[in-house]
Amino acid sequence: MKAVILVGGQGTRLRPLTLATPKPMVPLANKPFVSYVLEHLKENGIEDIVFSMGYLPEGIKSYFGDGSGFGINLAYVVEDHPLGTAGAVKNVEQHVRDGDFLVLNGDILTDLDIRAMIEQHRVKEAVGTISLTPVEDPTAYGLVSIGEEGEVLGFLEKPSWDQIDTNLINAGIYVLKGEVLDMIPAGVEYSFERGVFPRLVGKGLYGFSSNAYWMDIGTPEKYLQAHYDILEKNVETSVSDCLDSDFVCLQGKVNLETGAKLVPPVIIGDGTTIKAGARVGRMAVIGAGCTIATGCAIEESIVQEGARLHEGVRVRQSIIASGADIGPGTVVAGGAIIGENASIGGDNILTNHIRIYPDTVVKKGSIKF
Ligand code: GTP
Repeated sequence: MKAVILVGGQGTRLRPLTLATPKPMVPLANKPFVSYVLEHLKENGIEDIVFSMGYLPEGIKSYFGDGSGFGINLAYVVEDHPLGTAGAVKNVEQHVRDGDFLVLNGDILTDLDIRAMIEQHRVKEAVGTISLTPVEDPTAYGLVSIGEEGEVLGFLEKPSWDQIDTNLINAGIYVLKGEVLDMIPAGVEYSFERGVFPRLVGKGLYGFSSNAYWMDIGTPEKYLQAHYDILEKNVETSVSDCLDSDFVCLQGKVNLETGAKLVPPVIIGDGTTIKAGARVGRMAVIGAGCTIATGCAIEESIVQEGARLHEGVRVRQSIIASGADIGPGTVVAGGAIIGENASIGGDNILTNHIRIYPDTVVKKGSIKF
């Protein structure tokens, strides 16, 4: 079976991380996010994969090439304007015309049993099967009601509590029959969620509900949470083995000076230096080639490749993008995001979900937010 991964979106909610880097290439535990999607597909026996792209396609193409380095076959189709989720699949029709195929949103981290989902699709002779996942707060989502046989009964957009009879939401992974392509107009924006699926209710549309791990990494909070879940092994990924039983994963040669402290779980990238008197963890992912100076404390945070943290920098529940330079004594906390190559002078306080754009220069002591 072939799979289409939708990676054409601009990822606006994850800005500034997605201004120069498309969401699929934003690192998760130091690897491009979408490489986890590819690994998951391969584990489920799916090796012919089409990327449906739009925004910043070049970085993805040059990293994955024809897929042979990853043991898969990759094809790329680039839209000249956004076509929406279904329009984007119509646009790759030549790759998936024959038989059933899989569609995945490109920003989902999951260990869903895709083989079992395909099996159910075949047993039910479904026209379409939507993966469904339960949520704690059903009022915040579009809900999907299913009957006893798994048939989709209807969709409910952000309902009030008295309307709710399900806690299942669309998990962004579909198995579809080729004939579904005939329902999608070519060359215009069209969505599965609002266009195709409502028209298929009662006509062979099924849900596949499961309690598999599921996280849409599209917001900073969920992107951080996905890291915490990888660090705690709440989801099985290719970095789980490296974390081993002590929950410390050193991804290569790490220069850990005597007196530097790692508090598990932590992941540290190749070539990073952690100086004496610095503390990293608990819950921290540090990229390759970073420098963490004396007196720094980093917890529940991500520091991407090549970032430099000078003496006494404290980072909590925040994200520092690649190449950023953080001056002595600065505090980065409370969901702050520091963009790529930003240069932050010492003695700043950056909190309250502040977002500093890439390459920005912030002078010493100028922000107490
Ligand atoms: P936000 O701007 O933060 O909402 O993110 P997004 O642009 O990624 O949108 P959203 O999270 O709703 O998209 C879900 C998935 O569908 C993502 O993997 C997107 O890359 C993909 N996607 C959304 N719209 C399009 C589109 O027009 N074309 C293609 N090819 N993919 C799309």
